[in-house]
Amino acid sequence: MFSAAAAGVGVAVTAWPFIDQMNPSAATQALSTTEVDLTPITPGQQITVMWQGKPTWVRRRTPEEVAQIRAIPNSELKDPQPDQERVQKAEWLVVIGICTHLGCIPNRDNSGEQGGYLCACHGSVYDGSGRIMRGPAPLNLAVPPYAFLSDTLVRIG
Ligand code: FES
Repeated sequence: MFSAAAAGVGVAVTAWPFIDQMNPSAATQALSTTEVDLTPITPGQQITVMWQGKPTWVRRRTPEEVAQIRAIPNSELKDPQPDQERVQKAEWLVVIGICTHLGCIPNRDNSGEQGGYLCACHGSVYDGSGRIMRGPAPLNLAVPPYAFLSDTLVRIG
């Protein structure tokens, strides 16, 4: 009986470090998500935040921009996807700002179509939804997982 109890304690003691190692540390969990306060972002403005080491854009689109973006026919898109499937709220675009060609960082291109983006490396043009329209990039800018925690707070990741 004594040895059985001792064995039970031994199992409990050795099991704990195992379980502890399987849980990601608080630091790792913190890096996997990024919370963004939307309050300071004015209509038409975009900010860049880092999420898992990737520049991620949070853009507050105006109703005019949304209307222009949503008027683009699928036939003009290389990787057709409705804007409605890329955003949770029409006003807010959240995309990873890394060109899907070779990984350069595109620039906001207000002179272009629908206030989109130009990757000057090789001339890929994205619209204001991050959808590829022209150039060598094959895919739309990636949309990260995100959730609105409130009307003014988004958690990416
Ligand atoms: S990396 Fe963007 S066009 Fe080549």
